[in-house]
Amino acid sequence: MTEDKSLSVPRHVAIIMDGNGRWARARGLPRLAGHRAGTENLRPILEASVEFGIEILTIWAFSTENWRRPEGEVRGLLGILRQMIRRELKELHKQGVRLRHIGRLDRLPPALQKQVQEAIELTRDNDRIILNVAFDYGGRAEIVQAVRRIVEAGIPADQVDEALLSSYMYTAGQPDPDLIIRTSGELRTSGFMLWQSAYTEYYVTDTFWPDFDKEELRRALLAYAHRDRRFGGIKDDYGSPHEVHAPEEALDDGGEEGDEG
Ligand code: FPP
Repeated sequence: MTEDKSLSVPRHVAIIMDGNGRWARARGLPRLAGHRAGTENLRPILEASVEFGIEILTIWAFSTENWRRPEGEVRGLLGILRQMIRRELKELHKQGVRLRHIGRLDRLPPALQKQVQEAIELTRDNDRIILNVAFDYGGRAEIVQAVRRIVEAGIPADQVDEALLSSYMYTAGQPDPDLIIRTSGELRTSGFMLWQSAYTEYYVTDTFWPDFDKEELRRALLAYAHRDRRFGGIKDDYGSPHEVHAPEEALDDGGEEGDEG
């Protein structure tokens, strides 16, 4: 436990919501039932994120590779995004959630593109939490589009540096994720936030996404709070400019060791 009895809370948490298919299979249900259960899980996790003091929550809902899945599953996932905006937008707006999209918009059906843009516009001044929905997102694709746009803008090579690249990423203006959580036990990044995750802490749990609850999130945050982030420096020589602190009791529900993952 930290000496000042406070724990650092990640400002930006990103989640690879994996394991919906296996969750469904274990119950003899179709894969889409797993995606629906995963969708139901978003609201409690978003609420818990606000409660824990997280400022930005990024969720990976559809990767650039997911187009290769069976047509019915792709259609189902597009339908979930459509329904989420249709059914939840009002409430999300009321709750002060600012919606952002990261990824490609141009391959979504035009009506859905419009819905996404309207949701972003409606919620643009909200400041309780930012919810980045990564849809048709790939980390390599993001870097490629950034380089293309830099070249198209005619920016001379000697002006290209890390800050400039960051400003051409989908997350422009946002701090990099402090913590990436991957559910369902896979030990790979799958290219998620490839550029932004250079110094991100990882937390992997075997739990499938539909079962990842507030207590699991608390465990991930406790594990994060006990990590020693040096950003390539040495101890006593670092400190994230983004660090915020929560009272210990806000995260600690009593006696849990938080160094798994
Ligand atoms: C990975 O599990 C999950 C996905 C590809 C989709 C995640 C989508 C949701 C949770 C729905 C939320 C959607 C929106 C639009 C916000 P998997 O299918 O790869 O699971 P498996 O590895 O067990 O097969």
